[in-house]
Amino acid sequence: MIKESIAKALSEQVNAEYYSAYLYLAMSAHADRAGYKGIANWLFVQAREETAHGTHLYQYILERGASPVFKDIKAPELSFSGVTEIFEKVLAHERYVTGLINKIAGLAQEEQDHAGYNFIMWYVNEQVEEEATADELLTKIRMAENYPGLLFTIDAELGNRTFVDPFGGTAG
Ligand SMILES: [Fe+2]
Ligand SMILES: [Fe+2]
Repeated sequence: MIKESIAKALSEQVNAEYYSAYLYLAMSAHADRAGYKGIANWLFVQAREETAHGTHLYQYILERGASPVFKDIKAPELSFSGVTEIFEKVLAHERYVTGLINKIAGLAQEEQDHAGYNFIMWYVNEQVEEEATADELLTKIRMAENYPGLLFTIDAELGNRTFVDPFGGTAG
């Protein structure tokens, strides 16, 4: 059995992960409509990963004998000035999510929920990756601002990303 406070925090994280998916879908749609099919693909795959995170957290809540709590998923922002702004917002959003994950890790420590702490550590590590990737992409896209040819190359490169379920299942 899991502590009420941790079950609640994990449920909120399920919501945050589905919101992340929604946000990245909105960004993907914007990029697609603007003709950046590769960037759209990268964001679409990103959205699927976030859905997989949400599903994984949801399953863990049940596995620990608690009931997930469901709330509204807020609507994502829909207008972006361009791909630079999109990646600025991807990085800012991932930093925000890192804060949420760290709070859950802190809570699990406080409550001496060692299993929960161990579980959330996967996400702590994942966020290091997420921030590093977003930071790297933003740097590249900023460099490409003055070189349209470079943006074309980056777009082609991001078109190669394929979805791999981070948990090896069929979720997402
Ligand atoms: Fe996530
Ligand atoms: Fe993420």
